[in-house]
Amino acid sequence: MNFNIAVIKGDGIGPEVVQQAMKVLDKVGKKYGHNFNYTQVLMGGCAIDATGVPLPQETIDVCLKSDAVLLGAVGGPKWDNLVGTLRPEAGLLGIRKALGLYANIRPAILFDSLSGACPLRADIAAKGIDIMVIRELTGGIYFGDRGYREGKYGTEAYDTDCYSELEVKRIAKTAFETAMKRNKKVTSIDKANVLESSRLWRKVVHEIAIDYPQVSVEDMLVDNAAMQLVKNPSQFDVVLANNMFGDILSDEAAMITGSIGILASASVGDSGPGLYEPVHGSAPDIAGQNKANPIATILSIAMMLKFSLNLDKEGKSIENAVAKVLKDGYRTLDIAENNTKILTTTGMGEEIAKNI
Ligand code: IPM
Ligand code: MG
Repeated sequence: MNFNIAVIKGDGIGPEVVQQAMKVLDKVGKKYGHNFNYTQVLMGGCAIDATGVPLPQETIDVCLKSDAVLLGAVGGPKWDNLVGTLRPEAGLLGIRKALGLYANIRPAILFDSLSGACPLRADIAAKGIDIMVIRELTGGIYFGDRGYREGKYGTEAYDTDCYSELEVKRIAKTAFETAMKRNKKVTSIDKANVLESSRLWRKVVHEIAIDYPQVSVEDMLVDNAAMQLVKNPSQFDVVLANNMFGDILSDEAAMITGSIGILASASVGDSGPGLYEPVHGSAPDIAGQNKANPIATILSIAMMLKFSLNLDKEGKSIENAVAKVLKDGYRTLDIAENNTKILTTTGMGEEIAKNI
């Protein structure tokens, strides 16, 4: 089959890791008889440099016409002093909104062969980590009313956390549907002891839960969740969170699996193309050095094949190849241990492609 993939390489290590993911995808195409046509478009800092804005209209148009979007990462110190709406990150938030990608799916899995890289105590790691973070992606405080005003003590800045019933309903459904395919447990994160928006969140989640009697649902305050993730991560199956809490907890969930360099993500809506990107950022400190771990982006491709292109077997072949390469002792620097073989970004991409 033929598929059109919009590719946003972005900034920092983005281009390097995306290059390796495309290499693996091409190998999948060769083996299973598919054609992946890439259209590269600009977003983030590189788009600001070339066009003056972080998200050119052409990028949105190309993405909307494609079957799926592959993204590296955006941002870097060069663009840190621009006003909020012109920062690279505004491009990322903008494309998520433009494509209606309200559900961000971030699996945090501890690979058997990486248990040594897990920063938690061995007895905690031994119980395993297999968490699916479902983060709301187009609402809440990242998109709410914001601005500056004069207050009692001079200039004030404010951001607003606002959720509608509809926004909570649809993301809660995603979480419960996901749980039905897994261990049938949803932990819904909020701060309902303080925030009004969290109280609505909690109420709506429990209304949706009625439609899923086989799924057990538990509410957890976000501060407690941050603690439970390091104390007893094996208690979690599906973690449902709003935009900001999901942003924070997904980094934590990623780190306890050894490295944020291996965590993939999918962002999807009700229709149209999904967007696939590693959870890590643009890591400007190691950009251009052929050191970055491409596994998160490669595993994002596996999610793309499964979720957007209906190619389950092909997606699984990537996951198997990654597991095999790790089992064989190949590592990038971020997950290096004693007696492992260190590979560059390109080397890791080649090794995984070889195992498809
Ligand atoms: C992420 C990132 C982004 C976010 C930033 C770069 C805007 O942290 O994808 O988690 O907050 O969503
Ligand atoms: Mg984040």
